[in-house]
Amino acid sequence: MSDIKGLIRKNIRDLIPYSSARDEYSGDGAVLLDANESPYNEPFNRYPDPVQMALKEKISDIISTTVERIFLGNGSDEAIDLLIRIFCEPAADRIIIIDPSYGMYKVCADINNVAVDFVSLNKDFSLDAERLLAAVREETKMVFLCSPNNPSANLLGKAEITRILSEFKGMVVLDEAYIDFCGSEGLLPAQGEHRNLVILRTLSKAWGLAGIRLGMALADPEVIKYMNRVKYPYNVNYLTQMKALEMLGSAGSREKWVKEILAERTKLRGRLEEIGYILKIFPSDANFLLVRVEDPDGIYTFLNERSVIVRNRSGLTHCEGCIRITVGTPDENKRLIELMKSYPQ
Ligand SMILES: Cc1ncc(COP(=O)(O)O)c(C=O)c1O
Repeated sequence: MSDIKGLIRKNIRDLIPYSSARDEYSGDGAVLLDANESPYNEPFNRYPDPVQMALKEKISDIISTTVERIFLGNGSDEAIDLLIRIFCEPAADRIIIIDPSYGMYKVCADINNVAVDFVSLNKDFSLDAERLLAAVREETKMVFLCSPNNPSANLLGKAEITRILSEFKGMVVLDEAYIDFCGSEGLLPAQGEHRNLVILRTLSKAWGLAGIRLGMALADPEVIKYMNRVKYPYNVNYLTQMKALEMLGSAGSREKWVKEILAERTKLRGRLEEIGYILKIFPSDANFLLVRVEDPDGIYTFLNERSVIVRNRSGLTHCEGCIRITVGTPDENKRLIELMKSYPQ
């Protein structure tokens, strides 16, 4: 790949970021009269650590990377937006997104006026590197991949991803939001060989923390440096940092929950297979199932009217007739199955 700096938009390369007086002081016990905070209501009166160092140190232990390779944001959605803003010149550059995939890549591109080229996955939702590379144009700065992919639930092939990393000269963003459900370590080890690989992870899924909004990008330190320059100074609030530190200190809960979710996923699949109008249940490496039914709109509305909310994905490429069902608690899954079995055919 070409050097990372050369891929960054010129205005971002030249940006002088916001700085605070506290960036220039690293001791403890100082009298803090620099930021017009209230002196009262400790600890909430103080702005949080803008680079979330304690949290990054904890994360770097857990996923074996270094703090310079971690960006933390208000959900991984923040990282998606920042990456597009840093690398893609509005109304000039383009991105490629696999199809179908998570909807926010296109929303962020649209907001930033960056053109999108969709490259469809194969009918079984596997990735075709050849097809994707053929769609690359002069202006293509970035490719978005998602593995395990939402909504198809499958891991993408490592060889296909690696080929894209080697042959594409821009940045490759690989969203691994669901990686904890599949037993694979993902592509993080490939970062040594591929400086253009940005991996997205989140605490919103396996860690059970969607409400605190904490996502991350794992990337070359040069990429992280620019992300930190562009982000809002205090993008991860104090409460989120504290709660995340507490939870990351007890990985046992995550492991227990993942195990339970995977066991429930197997059970749910078994029960769904008993239902006549279900045409196909796709293999899943994630905490949800993509299910093809005879009448997706009907079943979606039927469930919705009875306060069970699933996602109708039937309008997406290769997802004709499909609804996406998140694996819930045993009681929630039981309720879903009861209702689905009572659906008048
Ligand atoms: C593939 C994928 N990436 C990212 C996200 C959002 O993650 P976060 O909550 O960290 O913004 C989702 C949410 O559903 C997702 O499916």
